[in-house]
Amino acid sequence: MNIMLITGASSGIGKAFAQYADGRYRGIDEIWLIARRKDALESLANSLKTPCKIFAMDLTDAAAMGRFREILSIASPRIRILVNAAGLGYLGTCDSIPLEDQCHEISLNVTALTEMTTICLPFLGKGSRVIQMASAASFLPQPLFAVYAATKAYVLFYSKALAEEVRKKGIIITSVCPGPVDTPFFDLAEKYAASRLIKVLFRISPEKVVKCAFLASKRQKTVCVPGVSMKLFAVACKFLPHGLFMPFLR
Ligand SMILES: NC(=O)c1ccc[n+]([C@@H]2O[C@H](COP(=O)([O-])OP(=O)(O)OC[C@H]3O[C@@H](n4cnc5c(N)ncnc54)[C@H](OP(=O)(O)O)[C@@H]3O)[C@@H](O)[C@H]2O)c1
Repeated sequence: MNIMLITGASSGIGKAFAQYADGRYRGIDEIWLIARRKDALESLANSLKTPCKIFAMDLTDAAAMGRFREILSIASPRIRILVNAAGLGYLGTCDSIPLEDQCHEISLNVTALTEMTTICLPFLGKGSRVIQMASAASFLPQPLFAVYAATKAYVLFYSKALAEEVRKKGIIITSVCPGPVDTPFFDLAEKYAASRLIKVLFRISPEKVVKCAFLASKRQKTVCVPGVSMKLFAVACKFLPHGLFMPFLR
């Protein structure tokens, strides 16, 4: 059985991946949808033409991840597309965000993404694609978004290295690095501090992110930066000293 597996499928970009892929990719027998909110996953599953399996689970819960690993090994599907979209971030200074929230952010963005990618590896084969949701925040350290930017730098570096390791097997890994995207992400992100105006003005739609991501993955790109302004930002971060950006980010 050929499947597409999406984490963070109950909302925003993960949900948009499921909606975009639905019926578009021949050879996908089932879409597996993962997030904590069962009702949101059920209503998405009911709206799709492709048969879905839903897994209402907390990706930061080791026991739940262990159970999912067992399900994978029993079902032994061929994973054609894996999308790791579950993630969160808190805006604010490091001393204003409670330590447990910072650790939870690392646990979801870094540990859970690494675990899910690793347990899926045996089920990926020639032509399989992995799409990792990183962020433009991975391009440089970000005061007032410090932990988030650091977790996304991890996602980018980890995924670029893994892409080289699995290239010979015909597996394509693409890290997607959008700037601000118009999703419920900011409802939680703004729990301790408001977004700067620039993060509001430059928001793009999740559908645009998904289209760019699929195109980049089809072209076997390792990194995808949706939108012209973020492409320019990526180039600037590569060639200019990061210290130049700090006063603006602060
Ligand atoms: N929005 C942006 O501006 C932006 C920009 C660049 C990159 N990104 C990245 O894109 C990805 C998707 O973000 P989004 O904008 O779509 O945010 P979103 O709308 O808030 O979606 C986040 C998803 O993650 C799931 N999730 C959160 N905690 C979870 C947990 N412990 N276990 C399982 N699932 C969990 C949520 O579902 P439940 O609540 O149901 O669990 C939801 O489906 C994230 O990795 C984010 O960092 C976002």
